[in-house]
Amino acid sequence: MGVKLSSRNMTKSKVPKRNHGVLYNLKAINKLIEKDGPSKVVLITSANVQLRLRDIFDRFFKNMPVIIIPDGEKAKSWRSIEKLLKKFLHLGLDRQALVIAVGGGTVGDSAGFAASIYLRGIKYINVPTTLLAQVDSSHGGKTGIDFENAKNQIGSFYPAIATIIDGEAINSNGLEQIIGGLGEIIKVGLIKDKSILSLLRKESVSTLSRSKKLHKIIKKSIKAKYFYVSKDEKDKGVRQVLNFGHTIGHAIELKYKISHGRAVLIGMVKELEIAERLKLTKPYVRENLLNLYGILGIGFTDKYKADWKAVLKDKKLVGDKIVLPIVVREGVSKLVKIPLLKLKKLI
Ligand SMILES: NC(=O)c1ccc[n+]([C@@H]2O[C@H](COP(=O)([O-])OP(=O)(O)OC[C@H]3O[C@@H](n4cnc5c(N)ncnc54)[C@H](O)[C@@H]3O)[C@@H](O)[C@H]2O)c1
Ligand SMILES: [Zn+2]
Repeated sequence: MGVKLSSRNMTKSKVPKRNHGVLYNLKAINKLIEKDGPSKVVLITSANVQLRLRDIFDRFFKNMPVIIIPDGEKAKSWRSIEKLLKKFLHLGLDRQALVIAVGGGTVGDSAGFAASIYLRGIKYINVPTTLLAQVDSSHGGKTGIDFENAKNQIGSFYPAIATIIDGEAINSNGLEQIIGGLGEIIKVGLIKDKSILSLLRKESVSTLSRSKKLHKIIKKSIKAKYFYVSKDEKDKGVRQVLNFGHTIGHAIELKYKISHGRAVLIGMVKELEIAERLKLTKPYVRENLLNLYGILGIGFTDKYKADWKAVLKDKKLVGDKIVLPIVVREGVSKLVKIPLLKLKKLI
């Protein structure tokens, strides 16, 4: 895998200026920093990520100051952001500083958010280290934190100047992280690119991290996401399709404190059931999906129920209606606006 500094090679989609796009080798980091010429470089990570990726830190980030933030969703709180901003200040970061977020989606979301509001915005690079972060959260410029028990309620659209997807960074992902990433990969397979689903039918959760096809699956997933992001950067229209499985998924994630990806896997099945009741999709789509979970070795149980109150926190609410992404058939999707009262009866 070569080191590419041009976003032109990545996808055909538009990426903001100053953006180096998606690179596929951590060796690119030094060139990137050199090119950018920042006044200071600071890493942001969690203790767990640093421990798991000690070798990567030694090889690529030696002698860089490190700010440790809480591991997991705890990073996505006001308290954590406030502490992070204080550290920025104490380290003397100015407008030309560069921060590098190394970690899963929670590190990228919170570090990106802090970078977006500190001095009205300083540059950051995203180095995602979970499968979910590599295929999803590190692309598209959404940063943010949770608020009042609602996911991603506060945030900004603030793309990293580069995202570096290195296969080595996810070698240490456990089963839970792989399953988490699969939630978003299967989602884009269902809404946009069914060839992803075909590739996955030859895999299993326990072998995916070593699969020769993983790089291809990751690239296809990123491409599918950018298809929507490039058309609707601010998530006011077509990009909302990427939220398939998330209306119910987010509600389940907060209620049962399960991982985001696992909640999305459940949310997709539940939202397909709703679409069936609306006669907008056929049962075989859901049956195939459950079959794929079986092939991959993802356990599925029907015990999770979303609370209506949590569903009402969904960001796709418009007055007394909600915009729901509907998978019509594998690889084909659309947005449908339905009255909340109707949805309540269908859940
Ligand atoms: N911004 C977006 O567009 C977007 C999109 C999807 C999801 N998200 C957000 O992403 C978050 C979920 O991301 P996540 O699943 O990466 O969670 P996470 O960041 O909490 O990581 C999960 C766990 O994996 C560990 N980990 C990280 N890298 C590892 C490695 N290489 N080896 C072993 N363990 C490692 C972490 O320490 C953590 O304990 C959620 O908060 C979700 O809302 C954001
Ligand atoms: Zn998601």
